[in-house]
Amino acid sequence: MVRSRISGTGSFVPKMVVTNNDLDRMFDTSDGWISSRTGIRERRVSVSETTAVMAAKAARNALKSAKVSPKEIDLVIVGTVTPEMTFPSTACLVQSELGIRSGSAAFDVSAACSGFLYAIDAADKYIRAGSAKKALVIGVDRFSRIIDWNDRSTCVLFGDGAGAVVLTAEEGHRGILLSDIHSDGRHWDMLFAPGSIQPCHFEEKAFNDYYVKMNGNETFKLAVRTMGKAITDAVGGAGLTTRDIALLIPHQANIRIINATQERLKLPPERVFTNIEKYGNTSAGSIPLALDEAVRAGRVKDDDIVVLVSFGGGLTWGAAVIRW
Ligand code: UT7
Repeated sequence: MVRSRISGTGSFVPKMVVTNNDLDRMFDTSDGWISSRTGIRERRVSVSETTAVMAAKAARNALKSAKVSPKEIDLVIVGTVTPEMTFPSTACLVQSELGIRSGSAAFDVSAACSGFLYAIDAADKYIRAGSAKKALVIGVDRFSRIIDWNDRSTCVLFGDGAGAVVLTAEEGHRGILLSDIHSDGRHWDMLFAPGSIQPCHFEEKAFNDYYVKMNGNETFKLAVRTMGKAITDAVGGAGLTTRDIALLIPHQANIRIINATQERLKLPPERVFTNIEKYGNTSAGSIPLALDEAVRAGRVKDDDIVVLVSFGGGLTWGAAVIRW
């Protein structure tokens, strides 16, 4: 049976570090509030590192760790809601920057914080169908461009960053065992960025600005419920139980959401990977950035069951069960 194996991981974050104390000097907030409510201590903010630059750098690192040449890649999928341009896709810009062969396929997917899981789900299906042999899957976002730096209830939460994996078609028992993606558009207005001053056609509401809006409390509750169920459904679908999970890599939105999910599933804390304290919520970048860090820290061993789980605007959510 052909499966998609993660043969390499990579990541990239911008140089500029913005700490909670830096934000405290800019507006009415505090390190105490931000770290106790979210677990975030600092985040990266891009200056010259645009979305395509971050994506290409993370991708280059993933290709290097997989020992795969750009010429071998036949599919590039980028999960992002902060693309470099309206078009072409950020995936096409990465294809050009890395010298990935002309004629391969490259496209973006828009699923906010679930962007990487949507992208890896699609790539896995291309590989299993025999339409691709080696895919580059990237999650990247530059939220510093779309958050309102005058809205303390959202701007302290997000950061910029990118992560990438190389998926390789391989026979055998290792690789992605199952991936599942979901959405519920009824709740689109819990977390969104109008991105324009035009009225929204569906609701006939005119938004007076462009930036990210979030109903934090409701999103929080739904995230805990939904991620827990997504994990149990996905491991069950793969013929496993939550006890088989060697490492859970959840979307890094809030340490309290991650801890509540871990407690709900009765997972030992050491089986849950977090790096939110350093990067905040990097949206589609969050899971592959955490995965790369976990791999580089030696937290993932051959044959381990690794589970990725996301939750984000759309609403969108998803999970992937991987035998490493
Ligand atoms: O990635 C996609 C999914 N995103 C999420 O899952 C995010 C989910 N939501 C959350 O993580 C949390 O709801 C937040 C971190 C956004 C907010 O935490 P909270 O514990 O729900 O706080 P709150 O919104 O209920 O606000 C409590 C208080 C308010 O003051 P009052 O009304 O009680 O006087 C806020 O005005 O905290 C105040 N506040 C702040 N204070 C200092 C809000 N933001 C700040 C801030 N600094 N940055």
